Amino acid sequence: MSTKPHADNTIITFEQHNLLETQRYPGSSGAFAWLLSGITLATKIIAAKVRRAGLSDVMGEAGAVNVQGENQQKLDVFSNNVLLHYLGLRESIGILASEENETPLVLKQEAEAKYIVVFDPLDGSSNIDVNAPVGTTFSILRRPHDVGDRHDQNDLLQSGRHQIAAGYVLYGSSTMLVYSAGAGVHGFTLDPAIGAYVLSHENIRMPTQGKWYSVNEAHIESFPPTYRNYVEGLRRGECGSKRYASRYIGAMVADVHRMLLKGGVFLYPPTIDNPAGKLRLMYEANPIAYLVEHAGGRAMCGDQRILDIRPESIHQRTAMICGGPMEMDFYEKCLGAGR
Ligand code: AHG
Ligand code: MN
Ligand code: MN
Repeated sequence: MSTKPHADNTIITFEQHNLLETQRYPGSSGAFAWLLSGITLATKIIAAKVRRAGLSDVMGEAGAVNVQGENQQKLDVFSNNVLLHYLGLRESIGILASEENETPLVLKQEAEAKYIVVFDPLDGSSNIDVNAPVGTTFSILRRPHDVGDRHDQNDLLQSGRHQIAAGYVLYGSSTMLVYSAGAGVHGFTLDPAIGAYVLSHENIRMPTQGKWYSVNEAHIESFPPTYRNYVEGLRRGECGSKRYASRYIGAMVADVHRMLLKGGVFLYPPTIDNPAGKLRLMYEANPIAYLVEHAGGRAMCGDQRILDIRPESIHQRTAMICGGPMEMDFYEKCLGAGR
């Protein structure tokens, strides 16, 4: 992995990088680039709001409960509105679906409205009040070819392997967009001086082995045996004879970001409170699994690849374990041993 600025001291913005990527597809209309500009603009607005969270009246609960039965934070509502607004102006988007909305929004029926965007506007929102990192995750799908002229909200129920691009924005000590459209995973840091996402982490590849596992260990007694034995095996030094330590921020985007750069494993197994897992398949697990795989790692739920799961509803939950090659080999060994 190389970090920027480039040797020749030029900067490459997300828009430039994307333009270079789309030139590989002759005849590209620019609609996809225009769609992506909706994501970068909205997340810059969210980043600005997050930065001032202690000063403006956006901390705390909004007083409403979302479709998951969770208390909505004010910033959840703000972030959702910003993404819906700017993506809603992109002619190429037929359907938008968000963690914060019960049903998908079918925006346009026209054939040129060929994309579907699914997102979690603010991930880890319980971190807001304590000035800890939060994120946004998004997944981009293509409208299926065989549905004629009409969009149906069920068009978006596609397995994650059909994603054409995915990413997240981490609002951390700096704001960073991590993105892939299938040709490598690239990180762009928001330079507040110029208001642009600048290529800072080109072609992120996960280390073969890390030294941390990331899990809410408070639930370990209720994990299915394979996951429990797996975590205990990591602690005992059974994965590459390294004794793992733990790191857990409680915002998936932040925990996964550390894992992508430093290696290791992130997991949210089934628990008594969340027997099907807690993470949402379509807008949390799928984009992360896509990035992890494109960075050389793997992502699974039990013995199934996350990206192969066919969703039945947009808010469907899933268990997830994702990590680097060594950590996932050890997981498969635990699975195979039936322990
Ligand atoms: P959200 O804030 O969008 O509801 O997501 C929170 C998720 C995820 O970010 C995080 O990894 C997980 O919930 C943390 O859950 P626990 O507090 O149960 O560990
Ligand atoms: Mn979330
Ligand atoms: Mn959320």
